[in-house]
Amino acid sequence: MAVEQRANPRPAAPVEVARQAEARKIARRSFLRVSVFAGLSLGLLSMAAGFLAFFNLRKPQGFGGTVNVVKARIPKAGSDPARISEGKFWLSNLQGAQGDIFGVGGTGGLLALYWKCPHLGCTVPWNASYNGAQVAFPGIIGWFKCPCHGSTYSHAGVRVFGPAPRSMDTMAVTVNSDASITVDTGKITLGGIDNPLREVTYSG
Ligand code: FES
Repeated sequence: MAVEQRANPRPAAPVEVARQAEARKIARRSFLRVSVFAGLSLGLLSMAAGFLAFFNLRKPQGFGGTVNVVKARIPKAGSDPARISEGKFWLSNLQGAQGDIFGVGGTGGLLALYWKCPHLGCTVPWNASYNGAQVAFPGIIGWFKCPCHGSTYSHAGVRVFGPAPRSMDTMAVTVNSDASITVDTGKITLGGIDNPLREVTYSG
């Protein structure tokens, strides 16, 4: 009985072997290229995240960003304004028409006043004993009084005297559920005699 002889497989042609080797090289190169690109991208992203975190740019807090003021720091209605240094503003809690010097219709509430004088930028302090009689408003004690050139502003930051071109600028105020407030010091509105209309109702 004849035994069937199996033929030896034919070795791949040299051209085919070379083609396969070249294909493997190309695949390896592509993989390396993608890996290097992905590594570089990740490195750059983490550097950018570190930069933003270092300079606190993602959600800035303090002046230029938001400032939280806890209830204990918020002045009582009608009392002197509170100086909030980290946000560079005065926080007034006005009672009724307090500070509404020109009668635009203020009904009271919170007002965050940027302490930078609209004239030449000096920091404006609160002067609790200054008598309004000196600026034609007798009977009103307590004004913001710029030490540089004398611009004078009411409790609501309304300008009544001096070279400042407008009233004190205001910042956006939001009242939170725990009776704290958030002041967005990056959202500044140029001051005007309508400052009292920007007051935010606050019941504490
Ligand atoms: S800088 Fe305030 S009045 Fe000039």
